[in-house]
Amino acid sequence: MGTEVQQEESFKNDAIVKPLQSLLLLTVLNVLIPLRQNKIISKIWGLEKEKTEVLSKVHGLLDKIIDRKMKAEGEVDSSMNLVVDQVIELQRKGQIDLKDMKSECFNMILAAFETTALTVNHALILLAMFPEYQDTVFQELQEVFPTAGNFEVSYEDLQKLVYLDRVLNETLRLIPPIPLIPRQVKDDFQLSNGVLVPKGLVVAIDIFNVHRNKDHWGPDADNFNPDHFLPDNVRERHPYAFVPFSKGKRNCIGWRYALMSAKIALAKALRNYKVSTSFLFEDLVFVDNIGMKLRKTPLLEFHRRN
Ligand code: HEM
Repeated sequence: MGTEVQQEESFKNDAIVKPLQSLLLLTVLNVLIPLRQNKIISKIWGLEKEKTEVLSKVHGLLDKIIDRKMKAEGEVDSSMNLVVDQVIELQRKGQIDLKDMKSECFNMILAAFETTALTVNHALILLAMFPEYQDTVFQELQEVFPTAGNFEVSYEDLQKLVYLDRVLNETLRLIPPIPLIPRQVKDDFQLSNGVLVPKGLVVAIDIFNVHRNKDHWGPDADNFNPDHFLPDNVRERHPYAFVPFSKGKRNCIGWRYALMSAKIALAKALRNYKVSTSFLFEDLVFVDNIGMKLRKTPLLEFHRRN
């Protein structure tokens, strides 16, 4: 959105994170209990009111950003190629209306925030559980950023962090932030084993289990090992064995951005802190949801580094 999120009041006091999380929960409940989607029933149960309240809080922040941008006519920095600038441009040309413009921005925030935050959190958890891999990450970070503190991270710096890339991919493999994606079948089709999948059926692509399929990942498919992403191993593997951002026409449009922002966050955290935990990898329990949930979230300790 081209705005410094830390400067927003609603970010500082968590007023934006809580309604966003409630919104995700409401969406999950609507999928699990389709009755909730019926307008009359949802009104009787008071769900409409709850949804409207949550939405108005989330839209409040967005409206402020959009209003500010729209008032600053002529000051758009097109080199930034921001979503918000593009939709304002389309709205000014009369190609979309205000409602669609806001909803495009809203979808982008909703798709980006929890997924990226979960990825960073899961990477920290796994590295805390496997200190030997964290040491390798730290050595690489120390070479690229010799001085700790609040350093800048350039695009070129990110290219040098090849081990962190492997850690990030291995994290997305073992704990994909979106563990399964539903699709409605458009036409009848037959699987290679002869099973007919009829038109209209809703099927789910089980990303979590694809990523742990021993036929593709070998006997240690369930273990955390960044070497799964050594270039030779990647080359030999089926391209659809690793699909955290989905594949094809409707894949994630933010995947490069997500990887860059997660890498920046991890570089800053892990160059400045050693992370540890007493929680064991074997004790992680995964709960299917729109966004991946851990039954118990491991607590982490952060120890400052020099
Ligand atoms: C690690 C972080 C992320 C993961 C794992 C992830 C994963 C995914 C997946 C699996 C889908 C396909 C969903 C489906 O087909 O049902 C998707 C779609 C999408 N993602 Fe992401 N995403 C991430 C970050 C982002 C970011 C940062 C943005 C925006 C800046 C974003 C924007 C979108 C959008 C707009 C779609 C819908 C695309 C469409 O339907 O054509 N995502 N993402």
